[in-house]
Amino acid sequence: MKVLVLGPGGREHALVRALVADPLVQEVHAAPGNAGIAGEVTVHPVDANDPAVVTELAQRLALDLVVIGPEAPLANGVADALQEAGIPVFGPTRAAAELEASKAFAKQVMAAAGVPTAMARVATTDAEADEALCTFGAPYVVKDDGLAAGKGVVVTSDLEEARAHASACFAAGGTVVIEEYLDGPEVSLFVLSDGRTVLPLAPAQDFKRLSDGDEGPNTGGMGAYSPLAWAPPGLVDEVIERVARPVIDEMAHRGTPFAGVLYCGLALTSRGMRVIEFNARFGDPETQAVLARLTTPLGGVLLAAAQGRLETIDQLNWSPKTAVAVVLASENYPDTPVTGRRVKGLGKAAKIDGASVLHAGTVLQDGKVVSSGGRVLAVVGLGASLDEARATAYESISLIELEGGHHRTDIALRAARGEIEVTGPTAASL
Ligand code: AMP
Ligand code: GLY
Repeated sequence: MKVLVLGPGGREHALVRALVADPLVQEVHAAPGNAGIAGEVTVHPVDANDPAVVTELAQRLALDLVVIGPEAPLANGVADALQEAGIPVFGPTRAAAELEASKAFAKQVMAAAGVPTAMARVATTDAEADEALCTFGAPYVVKDDGLAAGKGVVVTSDLEEARAHASACFAAGGTVVIEEYLDGPEVSLFVLSDGRTVLPLAPAQDFKRLSDGDEGPNTGGMGAYSPLAWAPPGLVDEVIERVARPVIDEMAHRGTPFAGVLYCGLALTSRGMRVIEFNARFGDPETQAVLARLTTPLGGVLLAAAQGRLETIDQLNWSPKTAVAVVLASENYPDTPVTGRRVKGLGKAAKIDGASVLHAGTVLQDGKVVSSGGRVLAVVGLGASLDEARATAYESISLIELEGGHHRTDIALRAARGEIEVTGPTAASL
C-alpha cells in the first residue's frame, strides 16, 4: 500500500511513524511535512490545503490512501475532491467536517442526537453576548464560532475579559457561542468511523493551558498522556453509546456521513459526562501519545475506514505501557512565536531508551533543523508507569536546546500522584 499523509505537524509525524511501521505499507509520502518527517519519508513541498493540488499529487503517485491530518484541508474540501477522483481518503468531507468548523452546527447535531453537552447560546451582538453571560454566570466560557486551532476559547471568571473576547470576535465578523462552565477532568477520545461503524482508540488527556498548574492562555496543546488509569470503567463504552454512535447516525441521516476520526473532547463533570467539542481529525499532541501504544498496524485500519468496511476490524490492540508526550514550544507561543532558531540535541534526545522525538514546527535549513512554528516538537516517553514515562520524556526533552524554548514540567503529574477524581455519575451508575 502507498500512503500520503497531509499536514505539517507533530500529529502527522506520529501518523507517518505508525504507517512506516505497518508491514502492509510499502511507501509513505507526506505533504508538506516537516524536518523530522523529511528525514524518514519522501516529502512533497506542495499546498496540502488545495484540493486540486492534492488530487493531482495522489494520481501522479498512484496512491492507495490519503490520510488528512489537520482541519484546514478538510474545511477546504480536500476529502471531497479525492473521493470524486476515486482515491480512498481518511478524513471527512467538507460538509461532515462542519462538526469541527462550526461550534453552532455541532450543538445542533448534538441536540438532534440527544448527546449530553454544555448548555449554550449563539450570540452575534454585544447585547446578546451580555444576556448569555448573565444567564450562565461565572466562570464564563466564550468561543469563537470558527476554526481557531484551539485558541479561540476564553474561559474566565472576569466578566470584562469575557465581554472583550466576544466583542473582538464580532469585530472580526464572527459569531460566538457562550456556554455554561463544565467542571471535572477532561478526556480526549478518538473514534474512527467509516460513516456507519465506529471503533474507539484509547482515551488520552491533553493539557491545553500554556503553563504549569493549568495557568496561562489556551494553546493547541502542551502535552498529553494515555491511557487514563483514573477513568471510570466503561467510559469508552459510554462515549460510544451516548456520543459517537448517535452523532455518526445523525450525520448519516442528514445525508452527510462522517468518515474519518471523530475527536470527542469530553468533560467528566459532577453531573455526568458532557461533550466540550468535536474535532474532525486526530488531536495534537494526543495522537503522539496514543499512537505510541497502538500495536495494531495502522494503515489497514485507516484504509478500512476510508473504504467503508470498518466492521472488518475487530478491535485495536494496545501496549500495556503508558505514553507521555511533552511539547517544546517557541519563545512567545501562543502569541507571536519567535521562529528561525536552531534546534540542537535531537539525536541525543532520541537515544534515551523509550523516548521518541516527533517534530512539529521545524524545517531544514542548510541541513540543520530550525524552528518554524509555535509548537516545535513533542518528546514521547513510553514506560511501565506514568512515573517512568514522565521521567523518560523529561530526561529526553532536557537534552534538546532551543533558545527561548519552553515546556510544561507537570504533564501527567496529577495523574501520576493519583490526584484526579471523577465525582459525577457514569452510565454504569445512572
Ligand atoms: P474547545 O476549543 O471547545 O475545545 O475549548 C478549548 C478548551 O477550553 C477546552 O479543552 C476546555 O479546557 C476549555 N473549555 C471549553 N468549553 C468549556 C466549558 N463549557 N467549560 C469549561 N471549560 C471549557
Ligand atoms: N489537542 C487539542 C486539539 O488537537 O485540538
